[in-house]
Amino acid sequence: MTASTFSPNSDRASNSPSTSTSTTCQYLSSGLTIRLSNYFIDCDQSCAINMNAPHLGKIFNPVRLKPADKRAATAVLARAFVGDPLLRYVCPDDRKRYARTQYIIKTIVSFGLHYGEVWTTPGHVDAAAIWMPPGTDYMTTARRIRTGMIFERLVLGRAGIDRYTVFNELTSKLHHSLISRPHWHLFVIGVDPLLQGHNVGSGLIKHMLERTDRDHVPVFLTAPNPLVVPFYERLGFRVAREVNVPNSSLVIRGMIRPSGD
Ligand SMILES: CC(C)(COP(=O)(O)OP(=O)(O)OC[C@H]1O[C@@H](n2cnc3c(N)ncnc32)[C@H](O)[C@@H]1OP(=O)(O)O)[C@@H](O)C(=O)NCCC(=O)NCCS
Repeated sequence: MTASTFSPNSDRASNSPSTSTSTTCQYLSSGLTIRLSNYFIDCDQSCAINMNAPHLGKIFNPVRLKPADKRAATAVLARAFVGDPLLRYVCPDDRKRYARTQYIIKTIVSFGLHYGEVWTTPGHVDAAAIWMPPGTDYMTTARRIRTGMIFERLVLGRAGIDRYTVFNELTSKLHHSLISRPHWHLFVIGVDPLLQGHNVGSGLIKHMLERTDRDHVPVFLTAPNPLVVPFYERLGFRVAREVNVPNSSLVIRGMIRPSGD
């Protein structure tokens, strides 16, 4: 599978109806044919665990994720997030959650690669952090097409997309109510589950916090998982507000790390 998210089909007339809407979707208004299967990755090929990683428990210099490593980053983040309360809320069905997590994560990695910054561990992709610089964190239809988010309804199903939309809308409101000055948004961070607790996550965040400190810019993030709050607090973030997601036990915490000025 290539990293490309969709392939233009210049010959609309020969665009025969798809045999299965679960694998191919015709994006009628633009004449693009998009293979939905491109949004699912063969995780097994990216599952090699790097227990001898030189960055385990040590100070390391994170590197920018190469577009060619998008698949490896998606696999690591999907493994890190499949048990997350947000993914459990969006997809309560255990049998479907992994594939749907892969899809959601893949679109988010695309979003980060196209419009933000994605950082990872040197040498081997054992973790990834997606950061949106000031002023870049907004959604448009063009962005939704480019990242594959346009397929959310098809992939997540009606109930899944309804829940995901509720979450996204509440998160967006919380975000804009808490911070209006220019800031970075730590969108997603995840470490391979077998390597968690060895300072990889903090190492991946700290170099960016040095940069935001130098630039006197605050950082915003949301934490639906209560277990990670102490991790962020140790890095200087504070819970600014909590929002309950209706009809669920999910709580979204908006956290801010001040700029220091
Ligand atoms: C949260 C996370 C990025 C931290 O990275 P890490 O390399 O494991 O963390 P570090 O070794 O640098 O720091 C250790 C701290 O991370 C937190 N942590 C470690 N494993 C964790 C896990 N499975 N879930 C939640 N928090 C965890 C703990 O606060 C831990 O501190 P402790 O050892 O005193 O309990 C990583 O655990 C992870 O990917 N979790 C799953 C995905 C996730 O929840 N991401 C955050 C989105 S809001």
